[in-house]
Amino acid sequence: MHALPIPASYEFYAELTTAIHLARQAGDLLLSIHRQGPRRIETKNTAVDMLTEADTASQTLITNAIAARFPDHDIMAEEEGGDKTGSGRVLWLVDPLDGTTNFASRFPIFAVSIALWVNGRPAIGVVQDVVRERTYWAASGQGAWMATPERLDETRLQTSQTSELNQSLLATGFPYVRATAKDNNLAEFNYLMPRARGIRRAGAAALDQAWVADGRLDGYWEARLSPWDWAAGVLLMLEAGGVVTDYAGNPWGLGADQMVAANPYLHEKLLTAVQTARREAGL
Ligand code: IPD
Ligand code: CA
Ligand code: CA
Repeated sequence: MHALPIPASYEFYAELTTAIHLARQAGDLLLSIHRQGPRRIETKNTAVDMLTEADTASQTLITNAIAARFPDHDIMAEEEGGDKTGSGRVLWLVDPLDGTTNFASRFPIFAVSIALWVNGRPAIGVVQDVVRERTYWAASGQGAWMATPERLDETRLQTSQTSELNQSLLATGFPYVRATAKDNNLAEFNYLMPRARGIRRAGAAALDQAWVADGRLDGYWEARLSPWDWAAGVLLMLEAGGVVTDYAGNPWGLGADQMVAANPYLHEKLLTAVQTARREAGL
């Protein structure tokens, strides 16, 4: 692997190189399945919450390798059989395929997300943009970066400078329970749609967050997220200079599931808009 732009003495160097390697390997696996055509699909809790054989194959590849290399570490991964318990202090969080709905329909936006949290704080985060073959990675205190297959330090990531909602490109997502839950993000979406320059629902939360980190998106909000949806993306955004809070405005932590993230000039305005929309809708 081409050299990382950080000192080899960095505390989590071995974990970081492993995570980058595995995210790319899992990405290659997903890409080869993607190119084979339509997939066999099972549903999970609701008709819209799907599982493909790719989710399982990617997760097995990643979690087996982590468990073999770091046997004392905990692993939390999305799909069945993904939890492995170790010492409790050091936790890997894995989304083996973020954007399953896209993947199942061969809509070309999906990712692999791998993060390591230590003592409740993010240490490293890696998001693989599978189709574009870009690796977004961050290490605590060492910045956030975008890597190509050739270079691990292709670009250092920085959030955008857009400070007005009406000049902002935002992203969001809607929960799988949207048909039955009143709190399903439509109030927030309806409030923000006429106020923003644009809103994208790309269908892969980890990529939404990576793209906030690299400044192509100005802000992102979403609720009912699971830890593997944001474990890597949060560090990417923070290391790129972004602000990440919950809907109350508290700094992001392991227990949170409602996220507002943006560049530092926009965050307060996006947070206020989300809060106003929710208040007006009685949420
Ligand atoms: C989903 C995607 C989607 C987001 C959902 C997630 P999955 O993850 O990230 O964009 O809106 O909240 O659950 O199920 O494809 O891994
Ligand atoms: Ca996900
Ligand atoms: Ca997933």
